[in-house]
Parts: sequence; C-alpha cells; structure tokens
Amino acid sequence: MSMQGVSGEDRSTLSKDESKRLRRRSFALLLDIVKPHRRRFIATMVVVVFSVGMQVAGPALIAAGIDRGLPAAQQGDFTPLWLIVGGFLITGFGAAALLSVYTKWSIAISQDIMHELRLRIFAHTQRLSMSFHEKYTSGRIIARQTSDISTLGELLNGGVGNLVQGVLFMAFTTGALLLLDPWSALPLVGAILPVVAATWWFSIASRREFRNSRTFSARLIIQFVESMAGIRAVKSFRREAINEETYAEKVEDYREATRRTIAIFGIYDPMLKVIGSITVAVVLLAGAFRVLEGGIEIGVLLAAVLYTRNFFSPIENLAMFYNSFQSASAALEKISGVLEETPALEDPAQPEAFSSTTGAVSFSGVSFSYNDGVEVLPRFDLDIPGGQIVALVGATGAGKSTVAKLVARFYDPSEGTVTLDGRELPTIADQDLRRSVVLVTQEAYMFSGSVSENIRLGKPDASFAEVQKAARAVGAHDFIEALPEGYDTDVNKRGGRLSAGQRQLVSFARAFIADPRVLILDEATASLDIPSERLVQHGLKTLLADRTAIIIAHRLSTVDIADRILVMENGRIVEDGSPAELRSGEGRFASLHSAWMDSLV
Ligand SMILES: Nc1ncnc2c1ncn2[C@@H]1O[C@H](COP(=O)(O)OP(=O)(O)O)[C@@H](O)[C@H]1O
Ligand SMILES: [Mg+2]
Repeated sequence: MSMQGVSGEDRSTLSKDESKRLRRRSFALLLDIVKPHRRRFIATMVVVVFSVGMQVAGPALIAAGIDRGLPAAQQGDFTPLWLIVGGFLITGFGAAALLSVYTKWSIAISQDIMHELRLRIFAHTQRLSMSFHEKYTSGRIIARQTSDISTLGELLNGGVGNLVQGVLFMAFTTGALLLLDPWSALPLVGAILPVVAATWWFSIASRREFRNSRTFSARLIIQFVESMAGIRAVKSFRREAINEETYAEKVEDYREATRRTIAIFGIYDPMLKVIGSITVAVVLLAGAFRVLEGGIEIGVLLAAVLYTRNFFSPIENLAMFYNSFQSASAALEKISGVLEETPALEDPAQPEAFSSTTGAVSFSGVSFSYNDGVEVLPRFDLDIPGGQIVALVGATGAGKSTVAKLVARFYDPSEGTVTLDGRELPTIADQDLRRSVVLVTQEAYMFSGSVSENIRLGKPDASFAEVQKAARAVGAHDFIEALPEGYDTDVNKRGGRLSAGQRQLVSFARAFIADPRVLILDEATASLDIPSERLVQHGLKTLLADRTAIIIAHRLSTVDIADRILVMENGRIVEDGSPAELRSGEGRFASLHSAWMDSLV
C-alpha cells in the first residue's frame, strides 16, 4: 500500500521548497487555532514564570539560612532564621499552587485546541468530494483523526509545558548562580559543550527512529481498518492467514522501531548523568577549597552545588520535547494537508435559489475521466425531457454509473456541461441540487438508528404518517410492521438487521419521501429476488410517477416500465428508442432481450 502523496506521509522524497511550504502550512493552521486563546495563553505563561521563579528561590534561601540565620541564632537571635524558613515555605507553597493553576489552564487550552481540530477534520473530510475519498483511504482518514490528533495532544498537554518550564528553570538557575557566586557558574559553562554534543547526537539518532515508529504505527492502523472494512472479502477468500502475516510484519517493524528509540535513551540518559556528576564534583571541590580559604561561605557552596545539580534535570525533558515536537509537526503536516484539500466541486459564489420544476436533464459535449485520467465518457450528448423514464442498459463498465454520478454531481465533467432545467449544475447550490436530484444505489446504506429515522433521512421534518405513507408506496410497510418494534426497530440491534432486499426497500422509501424531481436508480433493484422485485415493480411505478427517472438495471423486466431505453457501450449511446421499438429491431437490445427471454425458460 502506498503511504505517499497527498499530505506528506513520506517526507524523505520532498524537495526543500515543498518541506518549507508544509511547515508554513502547519504553522498557519496552528496560529489560526491558537489565536482565539492567546489571552489565556499569555496568562498561563505569566503564571509559569512566577512558579519557576519561586522554585529557583529555594537553594538561595537555604544558603541565607545557613550563612545568616544560623550565626544569628547562635547569638540568640532566632528572628532571621524564622524569617528565612518562613520565606522558604511560602515560596515552596506558592510554586506548588501556581503549578496547579498552570496545569489546569494549560490542559484546558490544549483540550480546546484538540476539540476544535477534531471537529474541523470531521466536518472538512465529510465535505470533500468523492474524488478525494477515492484516493484517500478511510484508514488514512482514521489515522488523521486518531493517532495524529493524539500525537499533537501529547505535545500540547506535556511537551510545550516541559519546554517552557525547562528553559525558564535553567535560565533562572543560571541567573541565581551568577548572582550568588559567579565563579561556581564556571564549571557549568564548561559542561555546556559536552551537553550540547550529547543532545545533538541524541536528536539526530532519535529523529529517524521516532519518525519510523510514528509511520509504522499509522501503517498498523491503516492495515487494521482496511482488513476489518473488507472483512467479508477477507473471509470469502480465506485471506486471514496472509493478512495475519503482513500485520505481524508491521507489528514487528513497530516494535523494532520502538526498541531502537529506547536504546537511544539508554545511551543518552547515562551520558547526561555522567556530565552532571562531573560538573557537580568540580563545583564541590573548587568550592570546598574556596571555603577553606575563606573565599565563600559554606551556605553559598551548598546552594551552588544544588543549583548545579538542578540545572541538569530539565535537559532530558527538553530533548524529549524536541522529539515530540518532531512527531507533532509531522502529524500537523498531515492534518493541515487534509484541511487544505478543497472540495473539487465548488459551490457557486452567489447561488440563486433553485428548485427544479421541469426536471429536464441534458448532457452536451461532456467528457469525463476519473483521477487516473482514462477517458470514460468521450463527448457525450443526451437530452432527457422532464418526466421521462429512461432505462440505461449496457455491459458492466460501459459507463452507466458514471452518467448517474454526473447527473447527481458527484463529479464535474472535464469538458462540456450537464444541466438541470437548462441550468448548469455548478450554478446550483449543493443543497438545492440534493433536493432536486436523488441517486439510489445498490449499496442502500443504513445509518445507526431506527427504521423510521432511516426513512426520514430523505426528509428530516417528515411526520410519522408521511414515513408510513412512503413505506406503503414502495411496498416496505408489511415487512417493517413485522419487525420486533416495527418502525422503531433499531437497524443495528438483534432482529433489526435488514436483508439486502429490505435495505433496498427502505432506501426506496427514503427516496420517495424526499420527492425529488429527478430520481436515479443505479442497480437499485439488484438485491431483490424475483418475487420481491415483482412487489417492488408496483412500488416502483408509484415511486417514478411524475418525475424524471433514470433506471440502470440488469434485469430487463425492470426496464419495461421505461418510456425510453438507452443502450451504452464504451461510454457512448449506441441505441436509443422505446422498449417496443428496440425489442422488435435487430440491434443490441433486441439480442440482449431475446437472450434474457431464453434464460427465463
Ligand atoms: N471511481 C473510479 N475511479 C476510476 N475509474 C472508475 C471509477 N469508477 C468507474 N471507473 C471506470 O469507469 C468505467 C465506467 O464505469 P461505470 O460507469 O461504473 O460502468 P457501469 O456502471 O456501466 O458498469 C469503467 O471502465 C471503470 O473502470
Ligand atoms: Mg455501475
């Protein structure tokens, strides 16, 4: 499966300009989402500055306690000691209280940001056109909504806070040390070089592993989703063993990448500890000599040792931030990639209200190809007067469904125009078009909910009486009444599971209640057995009465209710006439029809 393409899944193949563009796009998205929260963001930063400041005051207060408080106490004056100990407690409690405020606020901001992103991704992907969904698999969309969002969440919830706190902590610690005893800061300066070198190595070594582990985990999700979505095919072709094998390979890749990441930590962590210990040792030793010489007081030495030791504690977090920043920016690139996709079908800028009256459909000079560029319809012309019932027949792959989808505007033609009532489809607002044209396919998808809710999909404000009337009209009422809870039966619960034929009838009721001017049935009776189809024949007449209809069907019995038959071959109409004319002729329909009649006896 290809992981490449649309949204920068594989950055190794990207040019510099492209990487830059991706980064700019991610940043713009981030800015856009953070902007409404900027006041709270600034307030949170102020809180963290004070919290870290109070934490860093600790060792200095300890030094004061030892060097000032203690001698005074030896003289019988306990006041300085009490004051200093009191100050120590107050800063300690203050730092803790502010930390709790900070945590609460920052989590609230990051949750708001993720909430917003989740909604945006969902709404946006739903709006994108069919051609997007054909090239962007559902597994990848799910990876965007799950693992990418949670990676970003990790950064926002922990990473950013660690970065800000860590940097402030190190800066304040260095500042305090310089104020207290600049000479003791010297070993720290000496430690900078090895720390930077170790961190540099770490970030380079871990970057690839982190990226790998993220890519591998996304692949796991994708393969999982695709195997489960295609579970019927998996079972009927006994693909389980092969799938398990490929999945096992992917799981192994993931484990290996994670193992390597952890191995890198296993080197980096001890390196930091060693550098830290040496630095502390140098401060202690040099300080001890200076205490002996009377250069500094013992409390100052203690504080210098504490500061030096503390200085190293956030470094690992900072290196981690770098990683989680890397992963999150990769995730953000992909998310912003999806959000950047524009629906291929633009709504008109200033749509005039439209409601189809005649239902006349016309193709003129239409050429069309799917994403792959192979021309499916070459210069297609067709006029369907309002109210006509047209049957479209022809071999599989002839282009019948493509014609249907162009009328429903799932796609726009590459050349030429499709019109409804003489208006070009792109000039009609999407919601108006949906009200005027309904396409019913064999798929007959049922959403979770009751049967009546599924019918009401065609007209959300329909009354129960209307729902029943629609079901009666298409011959679905009887079987619905026989369900455990009738119209209220949940289609996902035991006993509510509908057969393919029953789902088809529900989808007819849905179309009936929507009452469109133009109705297209694409193999919509294919799941029905012959008796049910007979039943539906009657319903179909009611369903099709007074509208323009395009029926695509294999069973030629369905075709008999048509006023006109079009035979398609390789994207062209090769025969056009009334059922009687074509049956009695010598053409393709006549031979199809006689073959069909033969098959019945
Ligand atoms: N989503 C798609 N992407 C690329 N090619 C497609 C797609 N759908 C259909 N085609 C191609 O377009 C041609 C016509 O398909 P279709 O209109 O579905 O035929 P029919 O409905 O008559 O069986 C076929 O060659 C098919 O391979
Ligand atoms: Mg088809």
